[in-house]
Order: sequence, then C-alpha cells, then structure tokens
Amino acid sequence: MSDDVGVRVMIRAPRAEDEVAYAEAVRRSADHIGRWNPVEPDGLPELLERQGAGLRTFLIVDRETDGLVGKVNVANIVMGRFCNAALGYDSYLPFAGTGRMTEGLRLVLDRCFAPQTAGGLGLHRLEINVQPDNERSIALAKRLGFRHEGFTPRMLFLQGAWRDHERFALTAEEWPGSGAA
Ligand SMILES: CC(C)(COP(=O)(O)OP(=O)(O)OC[C@H]1O[C@@H](n2cnc3c(N)ncnc32)[C@H](O)[C@@H]1OP(=O)(O)O)[C@@H](O)C(=O)NCCC(=O)NCCS
Repeated sequence: MSDDVGVRVMIRAPRAEDEVAYAEAVRRSADHIGRWNPVEPDGLPELLERQGAGLRTFLIVDRETDGLVGKVNVANIVMGRFCNAALGYDSYLPFAGTGRMTEGLRLVLDRCFAPQTAGGLGLHRLEINVQPDNERSIALAKRLGFRHEGFTPRMLFLQGAWRDHERFALTAEEWPGSGAA
C-alpha cells in the first residue's frame, strides 16, 4: 500500500480531467464552504497553472466511489531555514462530516513532513489559520494535533473585510511517523 492510500480515501494531485467533477463538487457544497472560504467552482484550471514551488494542491478521493471528498492547498511554501507552509482546505458533499477529510489530511501531512528524497515536501512546520467562529475547521485542526499558537488580527481579506484568524501550527517533531518525531 502506498503512503498516499488510506482506508477510505486516497490523495493525489489534481489534473485537468478533474475539472467537471471539481466544479460540481464545489457547487453542491457552496452553502457549507462559501461563508468560510469562497471557492470558484470553475477555478481548477487556474489552480493547476499555479502549482509550483510555492503551492501544492492535493485532492482527497473516496476509494470506493472515486468521488471528490475534498481539496487541500499546501500554500505559501517557503523552504530554506523556514521549511514552512499554510494549509487551506474544503470538504465536499456528500462526504463532508463523515471523517474522510480528517483521514485524507493525515495522508497530506505525511507527505508534507516526508523528506524530499522520499517524495515528500520536506516541510518542518505547517500552519492553519482559521476564523474564530469556524468551529468545524478548528475541531479539525485540533483533531490533527495542531497547537493553538495565537491570534492574528485582520489577517486575510475575505467576504469584503479583513478577518481576524486564530493560528494553529504543527512541527515535524510533533507528527507521529515523521522521521523527526
Ligand atoms: C472544515 C471542514 C474542511 C471540515 O471537514 P469535515 O468534512 O467536517 O471533516 P471530517 O468529516 O473529517 O470531520 C469529522 C467529523 O465527522 C464525524 N465523523 C463521522 N464519521 C466519522 C468517522 N468514521 N471517523 C471520523 N470522524 C467521523 C466526526 O465526528 C466529525 O464531526 P464533529 O467535528 O462534529 O465531531 C469543512 O467543514 C469545510 O469544508 N468547511 C468550509 C471551508 C473551511 O472552513 N475551510 C477551512 C478554512 S480555515
């Protein structure tokens, strides 16, 4: 079993053929993701173009049906002495709230902390920034073992205003299975 395959889900890079399924998944999930993370349903081609040293996107896919469970952006990747990135994510109906997103994110974290020599991203620290009243995302960050680090006022421009965020982080030493743990 490859490291990118879990019990109910697997993770992989997005590709051009995912465009229709992605747009449908985002559209049918708009009510539950829109308030927190406005996502453009037809935005996959642009996201594919932006993939590179600073951004790596993973899709979480249901193994049984091949349906799209969610998307994780490993963004703002800075290597050198920092080896740091910020995670952004959305889960899609009908899989939201079934635990599959959590399982998929665990696989993404494995990839993030694995050394580049082993096909990983070689990161040392990951950050999740969440609006204070986004309870489901805060629960997810805590479930994954992220520590609450602090409060960042007016951090991101979302839905027409600069929004405060709670900052959660995790380093490789804290991630079970990572060589640094
Ligand atoms: C935040 C978000 C990604 C969480 O995704 P999710 O689909 O709820 O994630 P999961 O299904 O893995 O969450 C586990 C939930 O499923 C439940 N669950 C059901 N069956 C489960 C199982 N077999 N195993 C584990 N958990 C299970 C858990 O109890 C948990 O519910 P709880 O949080 O109410 O306790 C999602 O709500 C979302 O897309 N929000 C909008 C976008 C957003 O906020 N992005 C992040 C911005 S910082």
